[in-house]
Amino acid sequence: MCGIVAYTGCKEAYPILIKGLKRLEYRGYDSAGVALLQQDGIALYKCRGRVADLDEMCANKNVSAHTGIGHTRWATHGEPNTENAHPHLSADGKIALIHNGIIENYLVLKQELISRGYTFKSGTDTEVLVHLVEDIFKKEDVTLPEAVRIALSGVVGTYALAILSADAPDQLILAKKGSPLLIGMGDNEFFVGSDGAPIVEYTKKVVYLEDGDVAVAIPGKKLEIRNVNEEGKQRRYQQKLVMNLEQLEKGGFEHYMLKEIFEQPKAIKDSMRGRLNVKKDVVSLGGIIEYETKMMNARRFIMVACGTSWHAATVAEYLFESLVRVPVEVEYASEFRYRNPIIYEDDVVIAISQSGETADTIAAVELAKSRGATVIGICNVVGSTLARATHAGSYTHAGPEIGVASTKAFTAQVTVLTLMALCLARKKGTLALSEYHDIVNNLEEIPAKVEETLKLNDQIREIAKTFVDKRNAIYLGRGINFPVALEGALKLKEISYIHAEGYPSAEMKHGPIALIDEEMPVVVLATEQETYEKTVSNIQEVKARKGKIISVVTRGDELVKQMSDYCIEIPQTQELLTPLISCVPLQLLAYHVAVLRGCNVDKPRNLAKSVSVE
Ligand code: F6R
Repeated sequence: MCGIVAYTGCKEAYPILIKGLKRLEYRGYDSAGVALLQQDGIALYKCRGRVADLDEMCANKNVSAHTGIGHTRWATHGEPNTENAHPHLSADGKIALIHNGIIENYLVLKQELISRGYTFKSGTDTEVLVHLVEDIFKKEDVTLPEAVRIALSGVVGTYALAILSADAPDQLILAKKGSPLLIGMGDNEFFVGSDGAPIVEYTKKVVYLEDGDVAVAIPGKKLEIRNVNEEGKQRRYQQKLVMNLEQLEKGGFEHYMLKEIFEQPKAIKDSMRGRLNVKKDVVSLGGIIEYETKMMNARRFIMVACGTSWHAATVAEYLFESLVRVPVEVEYASEFRYRNPIIYEDDVVIAISQSGETADTIAAVELAKSRGATVIGICNVVGSTLARATHAGSYTHAGPEIGVASTKAFTAQVTVLTLMALCLARKKGTLALSEYHDIVNNLEEIPAKVEETLKLNDQIREIAKTFVDKRNAIYLGRGINFPVALEGALKLKEISYIHAEGYPSAEMKHGPIALIDEEMPVVVLATEQETYEKTVSNIQEVKARKGKIISVVTRGDELVKQMSDYCIEIPQTQELLTPLISCVPLQLLAYHVAVLRGCNVDKPRNLAKSVSVE
């Protein structure tokens, strides 16, 4: 949801900004721009399209500067065009500003600024900020950082900002509320990014800004941080960036998505590492130890999340209810937060997010906390807003996920949720030791079984050919495979733009069956399950209407294989762990269909990785 990069120091800023923007492009790719502080003022270059287009545009331009800001946009207010691209300039051209977030009261501010004589060049909410700062800076006898602080005190909404000015050429001003921003500390230089990706190459010493912070970075001086809501200087501790450069490269794969699908055995292993003790009779999740009693005594678990993370939450509903025997409600974070939900103090809310920056999920967390519930986070990005906003939590250790379509984050989330359910079930005594051992033994074999499943890649590429000219697809699953059907459909629609819907298999006959004809591919999850026979009947119902069956079965299954047009055989596992394997062929299927249709797999249209707006 927009990427921000900035640099100030003695290096050339432009190459750092461009490289950083390329690494942040997954956050949005509608337009890109940079502003560079040069001897004779600010040089501004921006265009519609990708960072590569911007770089091409700048090929013969003077881009020499030691301070600069760069932005890659996911459009919210105003269509993707050059005028709406960031940076935005003040009326006198002396202040440049980039923004990630949404200014909710921008219309009121805009009217006020128009009445004071300002004219607007863009349709964005962001442009009000640069004029507001300029207005205060010129009219009040204050420094530029103070003008920013005053301006932001009247702003409603979310922002991560980087600002530079020809009138204060030694200063880079940074501010944050609700959108992420971190500052890397180099030798007499500062690197800024929406996440660690543009920074990690230069330094691992970072400071995470907190909401309301306004920071001033001056090369050779200490970072100075004040807050919009408090007087005086603020102390923010330096932390180590948990990321390495290799994780950000494609490593020989054609796309990040494919690389990340193939990284799942490792991501699952890493998410389990150190959490299952040697004798395997205890699961311990360090991050939640202090809250274990609260979790064991929970009246109810409420899982809040969005998108793929919501599907992981839905898998967890089956896991928690079956193992921990406590009721679970799964909520779309966006609906939960506006519904005035009933939340009890002995409820435990589990918020799940890969990025840890999803605006709706964060808002749901704040709401649950304000009602007295205990809030546990599960997220992938260390130091993210979610990680800091929750009472406690467990990280997934999937490594950076760059492909916009989430893959390894999903399996890592399901792994951590499985461990959490096992930990609580043992402590509560709702799971017999023998059953516990059976699940744990199976869990340990999952990385190897996912590895085996990945060997089906070529077969799945062949099956994908039959989808290329299709306009619709249906995904069916029962029980714990139902959320996998939803996830498979989401993967297909988001990267190949084929309309796809997931249903509980039994729901098909209550409506969707009307859609089935010889043109309709129906992907059925038909692995060994208590409801296997019922699924077989559902397959017959599709076949009777000439639908094309693509089944995912447990290896060795002959019955469903014979009924299917295409059959994908995956390794057997304990039923509750099936999603960790059954989702993999569906990820590969979506990937190959999208590639065959010529779609941009890593950067699907209209999407962004980190949805930090409502
Ligand atoms: C789908 C996808 C999205 C995200 C959703 C939540 O492939 O990536 O649906 O799952 O935007 O994002 P996080 O998990 O970062 O909160």
